[in-house]
Amino acid sequence: MNRQQTLHKRYALPRALVVAIVVTASLAGSTRAEELEPSNAKPYPPGELGKVVRLGEEIVANTAQHPLSRKYVGNSLNCTSCHLNSGRHARAGSFLGTASAYPAWSPREERVITLEDRVLNCFMRSQNGVRPPNGSRVSVAITTYITWLSEGSSIKMNGQKPLGPNHTPTLDLDGLKPNVERGEKLYANRCADCHGAGGVGTEEGPPVWGDMSYNDGAGLSRNPKLASWLKVAMPLDDATLTAQEALDIAAFINSHKRPKFVLSEHLPKNDQLGEYNGKRE
Ligand code: HEC
Ligand code: HEC
Repeated sequence: MNRQQTLHKRYALPRALVVAIVVTASLAGSTRAEELEPSNAKPYPPGELGKVVRLGEEIVANTAQHPLSRKYVGNSLNCTSCHLNSGRHARAGSFLGTASAYPAWSPREERVITLEDRVLNCFMRSQNGVRPPNGSRVSVAITTYITWLSEGSSIKMNGQKPLGPNHTPTLDLDGLKPNVERGEKLYANRCADCHGAGGVGTEEGPPVWGDMSYNDGAGLSRNPKLASWLKVAMPLDDATLTAQEALDIAAFINSHKRPKFVLSEHLPKNDQLGEYNGKRE
C-alpha cells in the first residue's frame, strides 16, 4: 500500500469491530467536538479574503482528506484533532490570538520563524507528513484563517518560544511520577470507547498511537505536553482528569510505538521549499 492509500484508510479497523465500538460509544452518550462550544462565532470577512479564511478553516478541519493538504499529511489526523474546534477552543491548542505572537524565536529551529513556518512545521511532526512549500495555497489559507481568529489581539512577538497568548496551559506536575499501569486502566475506562482498545482509533476518535498517529518528534510525544493537553481536552465531552491521571495516561499512550521522526524524511526537495506565488508578466 502506498502512502496515499494508507492516508485514505481513515480508521484501519475491521468493520464489525468499528460498529461494536460506535454502538458502545453512542450508548455512552459521546459528543463530537463540533457540538461543543458553538461560541466565538463571528462573520467571515467579505470578498476573496473571506473565501481564503473559509478555505483555511476547511483544511484545518479536514487536513487528512482535503485535496490541497492530503498529499502533505502522513497520518489520519487533522489539525482540529489537537487544535480542538478548529482552533476556536479557548485552551486545547487554541488559535485565538496566535498570530499576534509571530514572528517568534524558536529554540528548536534556532531562528526567528513566522506564523507560516509554524503552521508548516506542524505538518512534519504532528501530521507525520511533508512540509508544504512556503507561499503555497494550503499554507496561505491556513495562515490566513489563524490570523483571522487572532483579529483584535495586539501584537506581542514572543522572544522565548513560538507560542501564542492562549497556548495550552502548562500543567503543574511538580512531585508527580507517571505510572503506566494506572494509565492503562484509566485509558480503558475513559478513552478506549472512542480511541479503541488498541489505540488505532474508531469512528468516534482518531488514533493515539501506531502508524497513523503523530510521530515521536511531535509535541504530544512528550509526556508533560500530552498531559497538559489532555487536562483541558480529553475525554472530549468531559475534560475532568486530575494532573496525576493526565500524566499516567500520557505515559501509557506514549509507551506505545509510533512513527520515528527523521527530519530529512519530512522536508521537501530544496526547490520545493518555497515558491513564487505572484503573477508573472
Ligand atoms: C497531534 C496533535 C497536533 C496536530 C495534529 C497538529 N498540531 Fe499544531 N500544535 C500541537 C501542539 C501540542 C502545539 C503546541 C501548542 C500548545 O501548547 O498550545 C501546536 C502548536 C501549533 C501552532 C502554534 C500555536 C501557538 O500558540 O503559537 C500552530 C500555528 C499550529 N500548531 C498549527 C497546526 C496546523 C496548521 C496543523 C494542521 C496542519 C496542526 N497544528 C496539527 C499539536 C498538534
Ligand atoms: C467521546 C469520544 C472521546 C473520548 C471519550 C476521548 N476522546 Fe480523545 N479525541 C476524540 C476526538 C473526536 C478527537 C479529535 C478531535 C476532533 O476531531 O474534534 C480526540 C483527540 C484526541 C487526541 C489528539 C489526537 C490524536 O489522536 O492523537 C488525543 C491524544 C486523545 N484524544 C486522547 C484521549 C484520551 C487520553 C482520552 C481519555 C482520557 C480520550 N481521548 C477520550 C474523542 C474522544
